[in-house]
Amino acid sequence: NKKKIIIDTDPGHDDAIALMLAILSKELKVLGITTVAGNVPLELTTINALKICDLLHNKEIEVFSGAEKPLKRKLITAEHVHGKTGLDGPYLPEPISKKNRDNAHDFIINSLEKFDSKTITICALGPLTNIAKVIVEKPHIAKKIKEIILMGGSFFEGGNITPVSEFNIFVDPESAKIVFNSEIPITMFPLDVTHKVLANKEFINSFKKFKNPLGDVVFSLLEFFSRYDVKKYKFLGPPLHDPNVIIYLLNPNFYVGKKLNVEIETSSELTLGMTVIDWWQVTNRKKNANFIYDVDTKSVLSLIQKILSNF
Ligand code: BDR
Ligand code: CA
Repeated sequence: NKKKIIIDTDPGHDDAIALMLAILSKELKVLGITTVAGNVPLELTTINALKICDLLHNKEIEVFSGAEKPLKRKLITAEHVHGKTGLDGPYLPEPISKKNRDNAHDFIINSLEKFDSKTITICALGPLTNIAKVIVEKPHIAKKIKEIILMGGSFFEGGNITPVSEFNIFVDPESAKIVFNSEIPITMFPLDVTHKVLANKEFINSFKKFKNPLGDVVFSLLEFFSRYDVKKYKFLGPPLHDPNVIIYLLNPNFYVGKKLNVEIETSSELTLGMTVIDWWQVTNRKKNANFIYDVDTKSVLSLIQKILSNF
């Protein structure tokens, strides 16, 4: 009785680790991986997703490429964080598998049609363009989604791409608005919680001691990922943003959340892409998301180590 998930992603160092965790977890069944333009352009996020599948010798999971750009805007990328390839750091051979296909949103729609309502959970690790397209194109089928668990937004923590906006939401705020207005159950991992899950030195070094080929790759990924964030934020290490989405599925008890209203700013020049959170319930707006804001960091880090050591 595995949980069925589709991972929508823009790898990305933290996306890559999230993919590894999902593919290696026995409790999860990854129906497919859909890619979106975000950290780097679509061609590269697709190649990167394939590289991770190859690394894990996974021949079964298919990768579907999706939106090349946000719904209404020009693409903004994050090479300053993830390097030119999106996965700078480790050596990862060019993908051998030719299993990638187009039409991420068709794949999502077909999967939803195939299974009973409330069977499939969508894990959204990048800009929400593909998901928004599904909702706009087939609103009734989209209602069959059990839950969307996403990394995005922030409130008390401020932004990482503008003073108030988190990258995934800022890149495609129109899509984020569609998702948050969809009435599909949403659990969100904003910077408020992901900035509490830092890959510290000891954690990063632990992968050097691994007796499997994954260890070296994860070590190099985290080493590269450290450079930018540690310099910028003076953190102990880079935040493991996206892996939280997968760990939550495996053990929601590690996290604390609050159901509240979230609206997305799509017009203001100053605060574009802000997730406006009604923390104190000062409006009558509908509670549309479970906002995760606290975490048992130690438990999350050791579960990540445990899963990756079992390859
Ligand atoms: C988010 O942006 C990307 O750079 C990361 O992969 C993560 O999904 C953090 O703001
Ligand atoms: Ca991401």
